[in-house]
Amino acid sequence: MRVQVAIIGSGPAGLLLGQLLHLAGIDAVIIEQRSRDYVLGRIRAGVLEQGTVEMLDRAGVGARLHREGLIHEGFDILFGGARHRVDLSGLTGGKKVVVYGQTEVTKDLLDARAASGAKTVFEAGEVSLHGLDATHPKVRYLKEGREHQVECDFIAGCDGFHGISRRSVPQSAMQTYERVYPFGWLGVLSDTRPVSDELIYVSHERGFALCSMRSPTRSRCYVQCSLAEDLEQWPDERFWGELRSRLDPKTAEALVSGPSIEKSIAPLRSFVAEPMRFGRLFLAGDAAHIVPPTGAKGLNLAASDVHYLSGALIDYYASASSAALDGYSARALRRVWQAERFSWWMTDLLHRFPEHGPFGEKVHAAELEFLVGSRAAMSALAESYVGLPY
Ligand code: FAD
Ligand code: PHB
Repeated sequence: MRVQVAIIGSGPAGLLLGQLLHLAGIDAVIIEQRSRDYVLGRIRAGVLEQGTVEMLDRAGVGARLHREGLIHEGFDILFGGARHRVDLSGLTGGKKVVVYGQTEVTKDLLDARAASGAKTVFEAGEVSLHGLDATHPKVRYLKEGREHQVECDFIAGCDGFHGISRRSVPQSAMQTYERVYPFGWLGVLSDTRPVSDELIYVSHERGFALCSMRSPTRSRCYVQCSLAEDLEQWPDERFWGELRSRLDPKTAEALVSGPSIEKSIAPLRSFVAEPMRFGRLFLAGDAAHIVPPTGAKGLNLAASDVHYLSGALIDYYASASSAALDGYSARALRRVWQAERFSWWMTDLLHRFPEHGPFGEKVHAAELEFLVGSRAAMSALAESYVGLPY
């Protein structure tokens, strides 16, 4: 097979890039190691920045999102037994976020791709990248017992943190920066009414918690947990009890619990690989960087990378100039590091760290007090949460 762009991975980054390239008349194939059902079954992000929504509109997949997505103009921070509202819209001149599950974004993009007839290879085994610094790099994979080869002009590595793309770059050509947090998030999805109309981020002596949602009848809640936790030890009742113990009495009473339809533990990590390019390979999304989920930035960063990368590829094919491609990594990384800073800050502020000790706890309590008492501090938080400009 010969295409202009080979996209590795059909997560949000790969699918969105595929759609934008398709609309621009650029021939691309997506090569995904899992099945379509597996890709659709992953429960992950929930909060979309306005810029991400605009990109999905541009990709022609925004209709259901506008019908079913929940517009949020603020969220609460709960600490010391009291809830404090962060008025996102009031503090940012009217900006909002939309609560719409990553699963739904993925479904909309997969449906659009299927309808357009664009090529996608699911269940591709042993994907490998070759000749990244040659004019025509190649992707090889196994499918139904046979080896296949795709020759292309460019490879877009959109295969997430554990993918093959970043690992195909010689170590000496890429610098990595990493912080691994000493805890994870235990998350439960349930068909129960959300405890509040808006998200509640909780800082409590027992640890962080988050009450989020997917719809007016579906809740998504998390509690900070140790990395050594075993899911078997967390029957639903224990999860709801633990969450309730981190809420104020009124919210705890309002919390409706019910059977989980998904339960998982996610480790928390900050990670950046620089530059996001090697030869004719360009990385986008989690393949290049990870943020802890506290700031709701991972999916949104994947979208902003794709904004820059799709623009640069379209420019290349329209003008035969590689200037925009050459500038891709630096442009994307500027926004990535802003989101890394914000996600690190919000994680640090709201979680319990074993190493903080009594002094650290007091400083965090003071910072939370300062935050909710200062319009300037609240504005800084709101500005990053709704998403920095592209
Ligand atoms: P992925 O979604 O990881 O997709 C990569 C794809 O590549 C996958 O389909 C994978 O199967 C495929 N692949 C992997 N290896 C190969 C290979 N060798 N060959 C071919 N294909 C391969 N972000 C937000 O913005 N807001 C939130 O509210 C939010 N909440 C989150 C909550 C949790 C609990 C977690 C875990 C994450 C959350 N995130 C959030 C982060 C967000 O889910 C990710 O940043 C996002 O999925 C990144 O998209 P991606 O396309 O880059 O990578
Ligand atoms: C979610 O709904 O899954 C979610 C929301 C906000 C976050 C992280 C996850 O910061």
